[in-house]
Amino acid sequence: MYEICPETAADEPEVEALYDLCFAPGRTALSSYRLRDGVPKVADLCLVLRADGILQAAIRFWPVRVARKPVLLLGPIAVHPTAQGEGLGGLLMRDSLARARKLGWGRVLLVGDAPYYRRFGFARLDDVVMPPPTNPDRVLGLELSPGAWVGVAGQVTRETAPGAVEAMARQARSLDADLACVTVASPDVAVSQEDDDGDQSAAGASADQ
Ligand SMILES: CC(C)(COP(=O)(O)OP(=O)(O)OC[C@H]1O[C@@H](n2cnc3c(N)ncnc32)[C@H](O)[C@@H]1OP(=O)(O)O)[C@@H](O)C(=O)NCCC(=O)NCCS
Repeated sequence: MYEICPETAADEPEVEALYDLCFAPGRTALSSYRLRDGVPKVADLCLVLRADGILQAAIRFWPVRVARKPVLLLGPIAVHPTAQGEGLGGLLMRDSLARARKLGWGRVLLVGDAPYYRRFGFARLDDVVMPPPTNPDRVLGLELSPGAWVGVAGQVTRETAPGAVEAMARQARSLDADLACVTVASPDVAVSQEDDDGDQSAAGASADQ
Protein backbone atom coordinates (compact mmCIF):
# COMPACT_ATOMS: atom_id res chain seq x y z
CA MET A 1 0.00 0.00 0.00
CA TYR A 2 1.10 3.50 -0.76
CA GLU A 3 0.12 6.63 1.12
CA ILE A 4 0.17 10.05 -0.51
CA CYS A 5 0.08 12.99 1.91
CA PRO A 6 0.76 16.70 1.85
CA GLU A 7 4.41 17.35 2.78
CA THR A 8 4.93 18.56 6.34
CA ALA A 9 7.87 20.36 7.93
CA ALA A 10 8.91 17.00 9.40
CA ASP A 11 9.13 15.50 5.89
CA GLU A 12 11.35 18.26 4.54
CA PRO A 13 14.83 16.87 5.34
CA GLU A 14 13.92 13.51 3.79
CA VAL A 15 12.47 15.17 0.70
CA GLU A 16 15.58 17.32 0.26
CA ALA A 17 17.76 14.20 0.62
CA LEU A 18 15.67 12.42 -2.03
CA TYR A 19 16.07 15.34 -4.44
CA ASP A 20 19.83 15.44 -3.74
CA LEU A 21 20.00 11.74 -4.54
CA CYS A 22 17.97 11.98 -7.76
CA PHE A 23 19.32 15.20 -9.27
CA ALA A 24 22.76 16.41 -10.20
CA PRO A 25 24.78 18.31 -7.60
CA GLY A 26 24.07 22.03 -7.63
CA ARG A 27 20.41 21.59 -8.52
CA THR A 28 19.41 24.70 -6.62
CA ALA A 29 21.73 26.78 -8.80
CA LEU A 30 19.38 26.18 -11.75
CA SER A 31 17.72 29.35 -12.99
CA SER A 32 14.27 27.94 -12.24
CA TYR A 33 15.12 28.07 -8.54
CA ARG A 34 15.35 31.86 -8.79
CA LEU A 35 11.60 31.80 -9.41
CA ARG A 36 11.17 30.00 -6.12
CA ASP A 37 13.55 31.90 -3.86
CA GLY A 38 11.62 33.49 -1.03
CA VAL A 39 8.25 32.38 -2.42
CA PRO A 40 6.19 29.93 -0.35
CA LYS A 41 5.44 26.58 -2.00
CA VAL A 42 1.86 25.69 -2.87
CA ALA A 43 1.61 23.65 0.31
CA ASP A 44 -1.54 21.72 -0.59
CA LEU A 45 0.15 20.34 -3.72
CA CYS A 46 3.54 19.39 -2.29
CA LEU A 47 3.12 15.68 -1.69
CA VAL A 48 5.10 12.77 -0.32
CA LEU A 49 4.48 9.15 -1.29
CA ARG A 50 5.42 6.51 1.25
CA ALA A 51 5.30 2.70 1.25
CA ASP A 52 5.27 1.23 4.75
CA GLY A 53 6.36 4.60 6.03
CA ILE A 54 9.40 4.79 3.74
CA LEU A 55 9.66 7.79 1.44
CA GLN A 56 9.49 6.65 -2.18
CA ALA A 57 8.68 9.82 -4.09
CA ALA A 58 7.94 13.52 -3.71
CA ILE A 59 6.60 16.38 -5.76
CA ARG A 60 6.50 20.12 -5.16
CA PHE A 61 4.81 23.08 -6.83
CA TRP A 62 5.42 26.81 -6.73
CA PRO A 63 3.27 29.70 -7.92
CA VAL A 64 4.67 31.79 -10.76
CA ARG A 65 3.23 34.33 -13.21
CA VAL A 66 3.11 34.56 -16.99
CA ALA A 67 1.64 37.74 -18.42
CA ARG A 68 0.53 38.51 -14.85
CA LYS A 69 -1.65 35.41 -14.80
CA PRO A 70 -1.24 32.76 -12.09
CA VAL A 71 0.56 29.60 -13.19
CA LEU A 72 1.60 26.50 -11.29
CA LEU A 73 5.27 25.56 -11.69
CA LEU A 74 5.51 21.77 -11.30
CA GLY A 75 8.72 20.37 -9.88
CA PRO A 76 10.85 18.98 -8.66
CA ILE A 77 9.39 15.49 -8.81
CA ALA A 78 11.57 12.55 -7.93
CA VAL A 79 11.16 8.84 -7.30
CA HIS A 80 13.75 6.93 -5.29
CA PRO A 81 16.10 5.04 -7.68
CA THR A 82 15.05 1.70 -6.21
CA ALA A 83 11.40 2.40 -7.04
CA GLN A 84 11.68 4.04 -10.46
CA GLY A 85 9.74 2.59 -13.37
CA GLU A 86 6.97 1.21 -11.15
CA GLY A 87 4.45 3.89 -11.92
CA LEU A 88 4.97 5.96 -8.77
CA GLY A 89 5.96 9.09 -10.68
CA GLY A 90 2.78 8.80 -12.68
CA LEU A 91 0.74 8.23 -9.57
CA LEU A 92 2.09 11.40 -7.99
CA MET A 93 1.63 13.39 -11.20
CA ARG A 94 -2.01 12.40 -11.58
CA ASP A 95 -2.88 12.84 -7.91
CA SER A 96 -1.24 16.25 -7.62
CA LEU A 97 -2.83 17.52 -10.84
CA ALA A 98 -6.25 16.34 -9.65
CA ARG A 99 -5.68 18.29 -6.41
CA ALA A 100 -4.57 21.35 -8.40
CA ARG A 101 -7.82 21.24 -10.34
CA LYS A 102 -9.80 21.05 -7.08
CA LEU A 103 -7.90 24.09 -5.80
CA GLY A 104 -8.95 26.06 -8.86
CA TRP A 105 -5.65 26.22 -10.77
CA GLY A 106 -6.10 26.54 -14.54
CA ARG A 107 -2.62 26.17 -16.02
CA VAL A 108 0.56 24.24 -15.18
CA LEU A 109 4.13 24.76 -16.38
CA LEU A 110 7.21 22.58 -16.09
CA VAL A 111 10.70 22.22 -17.51
CA GLY A 112 11.34 18.60 -18.39
CA ASP A 113 11.43 15.74 -20.85
CA ALA A 114 8.50 15.97 -23.28
CA PRO A 115 8.55 12.20 -23.99
CA TYR A 116 7.64 11.58 -20.36
CA TYR A 117 5.26 14.44 -19.62
CA ARG A 118 3.29 14.08 -22.86
CA ARG A 119 1.41 11.15 -21.31
CA PHE A 120 -0.12 13.54 -18.76
CA GLY A 121 -1.19 16.00 -21.46
CA PHE A 122 1.80 18.37 -21.33
CA ALA A 123 2.88 20.00 -24.61
CA ARG A 124 5.57 22.51 -25.63
CA LEU A 125 4.70 26.13 -24.80
CA ASP A 126 6.07 28.03 -27.78
CA ASP A 127 5.66 31.51 -26.38
CA VAL A 128 6.46 31.06 -22.71
CA VAL A 129 10.02 31.95 -21.74
CA MET A 130 11.79 30.57 -18.68
CA PRO A 131 14.82 32.36 -17.27
CA PRO A 132 17.96 31.48 -19.28
CA PRO A 133 19.59 29.13 -19.80
CA THR A 134 16.54 26.93 -20.46
CA ASN A 135 16.05 24.81 -23.57
CA PRO A 136 12.72 26.02 -25.03
CA ASP A 137 11.89 22.45 -26.09
CA ARG A 138 11.68 21.55 -22.40
CA VAL A 139 9.19 24.27 -21.47
CA LEU A 140 5.90 22.38 -21.29
CA GLY A 141 2.39 23.31 -20.28
CA LEU A 142 -0.91 21.69 -19.37
CA GLU A 143 -4.38 23.20 -19.26
CA LEU A 144 -6.42 22.15 -16.24
CA SER A 145 -9.28 24.23 -17.55
CA PRO A 146 -9.93 24.40 -21.29
CA GLY A 147 -8.15 27.26 -23.03
CA ALA A 148 -6.24 28.33 -19.93
CA TRP A 149 -2.99 28.77 -21.85
CA VAL A 150 -4.56 30.47 -24.86
CA GLY A 151 -3.05 33.94 -25.28
CA VAL A 152 -0.88 33.56 -22.17
CA ALA A 153 2.68 34.24 -23.30
CA GLY A 154 5.88 35.91 -22.27
CA GLN A 155 8.46 35.64 -19.52
CA VAL A 156 7.86 33.47 -16.48
CA THR A 157 8.19 35.67 -13.42
CA ARG A 158 8.15 35.22 -9.67
CA GLU A 159 4.88 35.34 -7.75
CA THR A 160 4.98 38.59 -5.84
CA ALA A 161 1.60 38.20 -4.13
CA PRO A 162 1.61 34.77 -2.44
CA GLY A 163 -1.52 35.85 -0.57
CA ALA A 164 -3.46 35.06 -3.75
CA VAL A 165 -2.39 31.42 -3.43
CA GLU A 166 -3.58 31.29 0.16
CA ALA A 167 -6.89 32.77 -0.90
CA MET A 168 -7.35 29.98 -3.45
CA ALA A 169 -6.64 27.40 -0.76
CA ARG A 170 -9.12 29.03 1.61
CA GLN A 171 -11.78 29.04 -1.05
CA ALA A 172 -11.16 25.38 -1.89
CA ARG A 173 -11.54 24.48 1.78
CA SER A 174 -14.76 26.43 2.00
CA LEU A 175 -16.01 24.30 -0.89
CA ASP A 176 -14.96 21.18 1.02
CA ALA A 177 -12.34 20.17 -1.52
CA ASP A 178 -10.71 17.03 -0.18
CA LEU A 179 -6.96 17.55 -0.02
CA ALA A 180 -6.13 15.02 2.67
CA CYS A 181 -4.01 11.86 2.48
CA VAL A 182 -5.01 9.06 0.13
CA THR A 183 -4.15 5.39 0.35
CA VAL A 184 -3.44 3.62 -2.90
CA ALA A 185 -3.14 -0.15 -3.44
CA SER A 186 -1.14 0.06 -6.64
CA PRO A 187 0.03 2.86 -8.94
CA ASP A 188 -2.99 2.29 -11.16
CA VAL A 189 -5.76 1.97 -8.57
CA ALA A 190 -6.87 4.34 -5.84
CA VAL A 191 -8.74 2.41 -3.17
CA SER A 192 -9.56 4.62 -0.23
CA GLN A 193 -10.96 7.76 -1.74
CA GLU A 194 -12.76 8.95 -4.81
CA ASP A 195 -13.23 12.38 -6.29
CA ASP A 196 -16.64 13.97 -6.13
CA ASP A 197 -17.27 13.12 -9.76
CA GLY A 198 -16.38 9.50 -9.16
CA ASP A 199 -12.95 9.60 -10.74
CA GLN A 200 -10.29 7.70 -8.89
CA SER A 201 -8.26 10.21 -6.99
CA ALA A 202 -4.68 9.22 -7.24
CA ALA A 203 -3.18 7.86 -10.24
CA GLY A 204 3.41 8.59 -13.31
CA ALA A 205 8.36 11.14 -14.45
CA SER A 206 10.48 14.11 -13.52
CA ALA A 207 10.54 17.77 -14.05
CA ASP A 208 13.69 19.79 -13.89
CA GLN A 209 13.79 21.61 -10.70
C1 LIG B 1 11.45 10.81 -13.91
C2 LIG B 1 10.77 10.08 -12.74
C3 LIG B 1 10.09 11.07 -11.80
C4 LIG B 1 9.72 9.14 -13.31
O1 LIG B 1 9.07 8.45 -12.29
P1 LIG B 1 8.91 6.87 -12.39
O2 LIG B 1 8.09 6.44 -11.26
O3 LIG B 1 10.29 6.27 -12.52
O4 LIG B 1 8.16 6.72 -13.78
P2 LIG B 1 6.86 5.87 -14.06
O5 LIG B 1 7.06 4.50 -13.50
O6 LIG B 1 5.70 6.62 -13.68
O7 LIG B 1 6.89 5.82 -15.63
C5 LIG B 1 7.82 4.99 -16.26
C6 LIG B 1 7.81 5.32 -17.74
O8 LIG B 1 8.32 6.64 -17.93
C7 LIG B 1 9.45 6.59 -18.80
N1 LIG B 1 10.37 7.63 -18.37
C8 LIG B 1 10.88 7.83 -17.15
N2 LIG B 1 11.68 8.91 -17.15
C9 LIG B 1 11.66 9.39 -18.41
C10 LIG B 1 12.29 10.49 -19.04
N3 LIG B 1 13.11 11.30 -18.37
N4 LIG B 1 12.02 10.69 -20.35
C11 LIG B 1 11.20 9.87 -21.05
N5 LIG B 1 10.56 8.82 -20.48
C12 LIG B 1 10.81 8.58 -19.19
C13 LIG B 1 10.00 5.18 -18.61
O9 LIG B 1 10.78 4.80 -19.73
C14 LIG B 1 8.70 4.39 -18.53
O10 LIG B 1 8.16 4.26 -19.82
P3 LIG B 1 7.10 3.09 -20.18
O11 LIG B 1 5.87 3.35 -19.37
O12 LIG B 1 6.88 3.25 -21.64
O13 LIG B 1 7.79 1.82 -19.78
C15 LIG B 1 11.79 9.27 -11.96
O14 LIG B 1 12.32 8.28 -12.81
C16 LIG B 1 12.91 10.09 -11.37
O15 LIG B 1 12.77 10.61 -10.28
N6 LIG B 1 14.05 10.18 -12.05
C17 LIG B 1 15.21 10.90 -11.50
C18 LIG B 1 15.21 12.32 -11.89
C19 LIG B 1 15.23 12.46 -13.42
O16 LIG B 1 15.77 11.67 -14.19
N7 LIG B 1 14.69 13.51 -13.91
C20 LIG B 1 14.65 13.77 -15.33
C21 LIG B 1 14.61 15.23 -15.52
S1 LIG B 1 13.24 15.70 -16.52
